[in-house]
Amino acid sequence: MTSMTLTTTLLSVEALTVDGDGVSIAPITFALEAGQRLTLLGETGSGKSLIAQAIMGTLPNGLTTSGQLTIASHTCAAADTTSRRALWGRTLALLPQEPWNALDPTMRALPQVAETHRYVAGRSKPDANSAARDDLIQLGLEEGLNKLPGELSGGMAQRVAFAAASAAGASIVIADEPTKGLDAPRRDDVVKLLAKTPDAGGALLTITHDIDVARRLGGEVIILRQGQVVERGPAEQLLNQPQTEYAQRLLSAEPSRWSDPSPFSHQASSPVVSASGLGIARGGRQLFSELDVAVRPGEIVGVVGPSGCGKSTLGDILLGVAKPGAGSVIYQDGMPRLGRQKLYQDPPAAFSPHWTLNQLLEDLLRRHQFEYRAVAPLMERLGLNQHLLDRRPGEISGGELQRFAILRVLLLKPRFLFADEPTSRLDPVTQQQTLSLLIELAREQACAVMLVSHDPALIAKVCDRQLALAG
Ligand SMILES: Nc1ncnc2c1ncn2[C@@H]1O[C@H](COP(=O)(O)OP(=O)(O)OP(=O)(O)O)[C@@H](O)[C@H]1O
Ligand SMILES: [Mg+2]
Repeated sequence: MTSMTLTTTLLSVEALTVDGDGVSIAPITFALEAGQRLTLLGETGSGKSLIAQAIMGTLPNGLTTSGQLTIASHTCAAADTTSRRALWGRTLALLPQEPWNALDPTMRALPQVAETHRYVAGRSKPDANSAARDDLIQLGLEEGLNKLPGELSGGMAQRVAFAAASAAGASIVIADEPTKGLDAPRRDDVVKLLAKTPDAGGALLTITHDIDVARRLGGEVIILRQGQVVERGPAEQLLNQPQTEYAQRLLSAEPSRWSDPSPFSHQASSPVVSASGLGIARGGRQLFSELDVAVRPGEIVGVVGPSGCGKSTLGDILLGVAKPGAGSVIYQDGMPRLGRQKLYQDPPAAFSPHWTLNQLLEDLLRRHQFEYRAVAPLMERLGLNQHLLDRRPGEISGGELQRFAILRVLLLKPRFLFADEPTSRLDPVTQQQTLSLLIELAREQACAVMLVSHDPALIAKVCDRQLALAG
């Protein structure tokens, strides 16, 4: 008997597992037909990125996978990665969690995106260039066209990587936290672009911690925790009426629902850092000028402003690692060099990739004569499992590495901390816990904190006051 049904399933994942030392993802099954969307939400470290990598066939060494995949009309065992490469680009594309991993550091944004249009999508050179220009302009990157990845802000790099990954017009797109660190208008642009794939008859698998992004994308949602599916269903139903305790907790931990900050009185203490008349231009554009700012011990000051407006640059100036074009910065008397610390927007860039986390921490603490004893209790408070210490920075999840960055900075007992999107890779529950801990310790240790976030609700709930930079 011949079947008359025309299958339109573009991506089918059957009983997919991932296993390794300390890693176990229970069999997960889902399918995406032409035009469909699926969003994975869930706890940091729950296995979302590994599921994406298992589908791509790019799991790191040391991890094994089982189960069966159908990608377009190609069916294979998940463990058999040999034929998967041929599907990359035109059929299957992944936007990885760390944009820097997807970008060539020596190539400017425009040619980087044009290359995919040319070599993967097969366009002529002029066509490829103009298509790349259109993509980047649509993402608000006119100013970034001729920049190298190292000259882009985190949010800009995120969008360039997005444009490069989607340029070949793959019918199945997997996007791993494509909107982290983006302000609301930019985030909405990315969501609209993501939606183009299913709207054109493709399939979209998105991984996100942003519940609003999941809501806007619609389709189906799966919530994961510790390698297990906790709950799944149509976005509208699941996001409005979660049934399980964890899903309820996750969905009610959005920053807008946090309680208001308790008022902080810094008395008459003198500022830890104060700057006056600051100004700087980058790439021929004045980012800010005549800026005065002072932060007192234990005070939390939010820094807000559109993507690329100079928030990270301001941090570098206040920390003394970049020179302002105008103005001056002074520190409280006796501030040691180590007393000024930064949490990077891009955690992988802040860690040497070759050593285990334990070796990195030991080395740091020994060099600066701090006690190793403080590590275990602080890891516990950050929700980090001790077994992660034996791994290298590339062998843990994005959110785990982000918390290691926080751990490392807190161990040095800073007096001034510039925290640049320090929780952008965390699920809402972990984000709330991590920020409360950060603030508690800042108050306790009289550390002045400047906190950058693209999320106005988060800033409003956490900061004593805010500094707004114009775009
Ligand atoms: N290369 C690796 N080798 C060993 N274990 C890994 C590796 N990469 C990730 N893990 C572990 O597997 C688990 C799942 O990681 P994964 O990156 O999939 O999490 P995730 O859900 O994407 O988290 P996040 O939201 O923080 O990005 C984590 O506990 C992590 O430590
Ligand atoms: Mg991840």
